[in-house]
Amino acid sequence: VNTVVNDDGYLKGYNTDWLGTVTPLEKHTNLKDKKIALIGAGGAARGIAFGVLEKGAHLKIYNRTIEKAKNLADELSKNYINVDFASLDQIDEINAANIIINATSIGMAPYEDKSLIPKDLITADHIIFDAVYTPYKTKLLTEAESQGATIIPGLEMLLYQGTAQFSLYTGVKAPEDIMRQSLIEHFNLKP
Ligand SMILES: NC(=O)c1ccc[n+]([C@@H]2O[C@H](COP(=O)([O-])OP(=O)(O)OC[C@H]3O[C@@H](n4cnc5c(N)ncnc54)[C@H](OP(=O)(O)O)[C@@H]3O)[C@@H](O)[C@H]2O)c1
Repeated sequence: VNTVVNDDGYLKGYNTDWLGTVTPLEKHTNLKDKKIALIGAGGAARGIAFGVLEKGAHLKIYNRTIEKAKNLADELSKNYINVDFASLDQIDEINAANIIINATSIGMAPYEDKSLIPKDLITADHIIFDAVYTPYKTKLLTEAESQGATIIPGLEMLLYQGTAQFSLYTGVKAPEDIMRQSLIEHFNLKP
């Protein structure tokens, strides 16, 4: 739960991170039966994993600490059949995926000059999604763009989990353009 709505004294919990993931991804592709490689098994990865599985994708989770990847995959397997996991040592196999998602903190300070995904595994057919939103274009996204891949910066996830929260709190459609501009100014991003 990342959103608690007070409905006449009755508190209801929601999660909107999954919408922050699938809304920008679905602007580029239908997720049904797509192969998704998710790097990371922490809090951000959890919402992302739920979102893509809910849309019918096939998910493989890669994490430095294999036990955490296994625990997340085991938990998701209770409700979804298309879930697998592996260690970061098997990262080379991710070029078989359609969509590659970084949900680790690698790419943001103090790791701005690092990426867990070797550039030569990325092709023009990939969609590369980075949950990291500062800097706007991480090393991973810069390298992916140079390989001709479609890129989705973490700002999009932050924006769309926020627009979903706005609607839950107020009952009206969120002012998407104003919110995007506010985030860019607040984090001093350079799109
Ligand atoms: N755009 C958005 O709306 C949004 C929303 C939430 C989070 N985020 C971003 O997503 C990132 C992850 O956040 P989180 O809340 O999921 O953090 P978290 O729960 O602490 O998880 C961190 C993840 O990063 C991995 N990791 C950390 N250092 C690593 C290293 N040196 N090498 C390899 N893997 C490493 C961890 O692997 P281990 O399990 O092995 O430690 C774990 O999978 C952050 O940059 C955060 O700002 C963005």
